[in-house]
Amino acid sequence: MNLNDCYNFEDFRKLAKKNLPAPIFHYIDGGADDETTLRRNTESFLKCDLVPNILASVGEPDLSTTVFGQKIDLPIFLSPTAMQRLYHHDGDKASARAAEKFGTFYSMSTMATSSIEEIANISGGPKLFQLYIHKDQGLTDNLIDRCKSSGFKAMCLTVDTVVAGNRERDHRWGFTTPPKLTVKSLMSFAMHPMWAFNYLTNKKFELANVSHWTKKGSSIARGVMDYINEQYDPAMSWKDAEYVVKKWGGPFALKGVMSVEDAKRAVEIGASAIMLSNHGGRQLDGSRSPFDQLPAIADAVGGKIEIILDGGIRRGTHVLKALSLGATACSFGKGFLFALGAGGQKGVEQILTRMRDEIRRDMILLGCKSIKELNKTKIAYR
Ligand code: LAC
Repeated sequence: MNLNDCYNFEDFRKLAKKNLPAPIFHYIDGGADDETTLRRNTESFLKCDLVPNILASVGEPDLSTTVFGQKIDLPIFLSPTAMQRLYHHDGDKASARAAEKFGTFYSMSTMATSSIEEIANISGGPKLFQLYIHKDQGLTDNLIDRCKSSGFKAMCLTVDTVVAGNRERDHRWGFTTPPKLTVKSLMSFAMHPMWAFNYLTNKKFELANVSHWTKKGSSIARGVMDYINEQYDPAMSWKDAEYVVKKWGGPFALKGVMSVEDAKRAVEIGASAIMLSNHGGRQLDGSRSPFDQLPAIADAVGGKIEIILDGGIRRGTHVLKALSLGATACSFGKGFLFALGAGGQKGVEQILTRMRDEIRRDMILLGCKSIKELNKTKIAYR
């Protein structure tokens, strides 16, 4: 199997599984506890169907939308995800370059393995920074200041990870940052010599944005769940969110909003967007899927704040359903990470090509000339 054989999410996932040592594959693939929310995120798109209009003389549909004050050519962008250097030695550089080519947002995690400055140097495309509030306030200020001087367009604050979700696959495989050999994982690393060669011969792994602050996660191996529990502030509050809104001063999203009440409060504190997300099912298992929650959120705050649907997206039709129910744009993590593991920058470009082709084709089949024409009339519930 190679990249040319990858037509959909499952194909990229299979190829990534073949290329990556098991602890790394399972870190991407897994969710919390019984992984019910992880499954539900995608299954919930089956609750409703698209209803096309015929003879609409669509011609070439316009797939662009505007989010964070930025026009993007595709209504989907790359979610912020940690440690991309583990999935391909080019890491964030590969995904940032691919996103730029497709005229959409690349997002950088606080736990990225490239620094804010490195990525600003190699990509002129729109960039979003994802902030985790560490116990040390100085680090938060430092990250915000650096994003400002490096020309990042937007910022999001992750609010659903004040403690780490219980990711049992990570416990089982002994996944750590940086990767540490354990008896269980040794065989898997040995069976992926190409990955091991590239890992060892390319730039040293580090959590590039925070390694000047803490060696944990960079030269001192830590389980990701331990890292989160040690470093992040579990007492984070609305006051902290307001502080970030003001200090950043630009387009800003709360990432991990799920309730109507919190969506309204996000409007009140001056956020320009919310990312409706449960962290890809990696945090609170048994929590509702973003897609199931979208109609209530759109009813309450639609038109007042941008709504980004993050979670479970596998197909262009998932994006179209979300846009029809009031999302401004969508983002996905696992999809592009498997593509990155499958083939680096080329892989990410390939999955973005597949998504763009699906969205374009399906808009024509739906009878929609532009994203604006997608609305509730395109959806019927079973
Ligand atoms: C995760 C964190 C690091 O989901 O965002 O693993």
